Amino acid sequence: MPKVTIDHIEIEVPEGTTILQAARMIGERNSADRFVVPPTMCYYSKLQGSGGYCRTCLVKVTKGSERDPRPMPKPVASCRTAVMDGMVVENTLSAEVLDAREGVTEFLLINHPLDCPICDQAGECDLQDLTYEHGVSQSRYQFERRTFDPIDIGETIKLHMTRCIYCYRCVKVAEQITDGRVHSIINRGDASEISTYIEQAIDNDFSGNMIDVCPVGALTDRTFRFSSRVWFTKPMDAHRDCAKCSGKVAIWLKGQEVLRVTGRKNQWGEVEEWICNECRFEKKQLGDWVVEGPRNIDRHSVISQGHYTLPVKQKVLDHPSPNVPELARLKPAKKLQ
Ligand code: SF4
Ligand code: FES
Repeated sequence: MPKVTIDHIEIEVPEGTTILQAARMIGERNSADRFVVPPTMCYYSKLQGSGGYCRTCLVKVTKGSERDPRPMPKPVASCRTAVMDGMVVENTLSAEVLDAREGVTEFLLINHPLDCPICDQAGECDLQDLTYEHGVSQSRYQFERRTFDPIDIGETIKLHMTRCIYCYRCVKVAEQITDGRVHSIINRGDASEISTYIEQAIDNDFSGNMIDVCPVGALTDRTFRFSSRVWFTKPMDAHRDCAKCSGKVAIWLKGQEVLRVTGRKNQWGEVEEWICNECRFEKKQLGDWVVEGPRNIDRHSVISQGHYTLPVKQKVLDHPSPNVPELARLKPAKKLQ
């Protein structure tokens, strides 16, 4: 099996593993090493063919392999580059990479509005995190920015094209998870935009997953929009018997009110299991769900600041859904790194 070293940390990985996957394996092996994992705006491990669009995952390969130790001349997209035995990679150690990432962030922000204070994605937005870590405080862009009016695509999803960064994740969800894709990115270059063909609404049982994969606030849940800042809500693991999906979700509570239902996301911000629209949009009563306990949001943004533990997690399990007043007594937990 090939060995690769990323920021001085070595790991042995199966043949065909990409640099990004190898970095995530290092992060999963020891959470203190998660700094080696490059940020991603378009790659999504559960979506085939994702990655290769945004360039935020750039890394520097300073040694190609044991057989051919020459460095690669330019930074490469880690989500699209397979490791070779003996490869040496720099992520945070390379000034060139950090500089390139800063440039990519600046490009992504050219047309993206700074409307975080009113955007539903704020607090769980990958672009917000990227900008915080790699952005510059001033834009050099002096031309007029592109703007679009928000569009309703279906009864449950709202599209804010102005915020889209063309990561293609929603297109791949529609292609791979739903039973008929009716939207894509049309036109090219700065005329590109997400659009439904002949104004068809996106309407099928799994379309809501597009909201979960959208790294920014371009696709938002119309049943949740403007209900609350996400960090004022309490995420809980919950499940129900569902004929269409696993029924395992995260419900976001304010008091006893279920403000929204989403898929459960892992430490890389990717949903663990796709959920159906019935669970997501129609089950908004606490009694619809068996509450398992608080969910730790494993992110470094503001959304993880509201962490709380339930030392008596079992209590919630013992007293399913209606037991939410217990949550009022929960104390903030230690912040994750
Ligand atoms: S709408 Fe969201 S998921 Fe779709 S391409 Fe734009 S940024 Fe990506
Ligand atoms: S995550 Fe690799 S190019 Fe977007």
